[in-house]
Amino acid sequence: MRKQIAAANWKMNLTLQQGEQLIDELFKTSYSLNENRQVVFGTPFPYLTAINAKIAGKANVSVAAQNCSDKKSGAYTGETSVEMLKSIAIPYVILGHSERREYFNESNVQLAQKVDICFEYGLKPIFCCGESLSIREAGTQNSFVEEQLKESLFHLTTEQITGFVIAYEPIWAIGTGKTATSEQAQEMHAHIRKVLAAKYGNGVADTISILYGGSVKAANAKEIFGQPDVDGGLVGGASLIPAEFTVIINSLK
Ligand code: 13P
Repeated sequence: MRKQIAAANWKMNLTLQQGEQLIDELFKTSYSLNENRQVVFGTPFPYLTAINAKIAGKANVSVAAQNCSDKKSGAYTGETSVEMLKSIAIPYVILGHSERREYFNESNVQLAQKVDICFEYGLKPIFCCGESLSIREAGTQNSFVEEQLKESLFHLTTEQITGFVIAYEPIWAIGTGKTATSEQAQEMHAHIRKVLAAKYGNGVADTISILYGGSVKAANAKEIFGQPDVDGGLVGGASLIPAEFTVIINSLK
């Protein structure tokens, strides 16, 4: 069975103290993890080391950076390289979040470079894709997402893409309280898996975890995660509330 993942994306929220308190509260609640069920905390850069230390020894719990540079090193003031993340033992990086694509003009080509650097240093990308409301209304979401995947990922080898993690996040559902229906999520996840299978074969496509993101909360996680091609979620707002995130973790297959 492929990995089922509850990934928190704190975005630019919480102080370090609030983040640590959130994790303390979460660890006090009863959630159940195993080899197939994982939790990932996508924290702001300054907290990565502290949160990594805090979760040390907790099985199947990891941290993720929310971004990395598309350059390896050099005179890029304010940027954070993959090698820096590796040097502080960070295993995951969220790449291509729609907020980064929109506010920081990240392109599919640039994301392909980031993906490559992650592989070079052994970090695992959580690669985000998803369409805007106007694309959804025009009915062209399948080809739009397919293009995102092709331009950023399809140069990868079979070995690299095996066990990869993709997050489908329809932009119109992010932070809006407007969740995709479980049918809409399943339809797109099945499409993504089909596109991956056409390129890499069914066996490889079946190893790729595809997370859903966009207003996931305690009340809808079970229904969405229950879909056959949905392998968990990338969660913003509800990941900041321990009681909500516990239910979300326990809704994983
Ligand atoms: P919300 O869960 O707040 O809608 O955010 C989703 C998201 O962008 C996760 O990366």
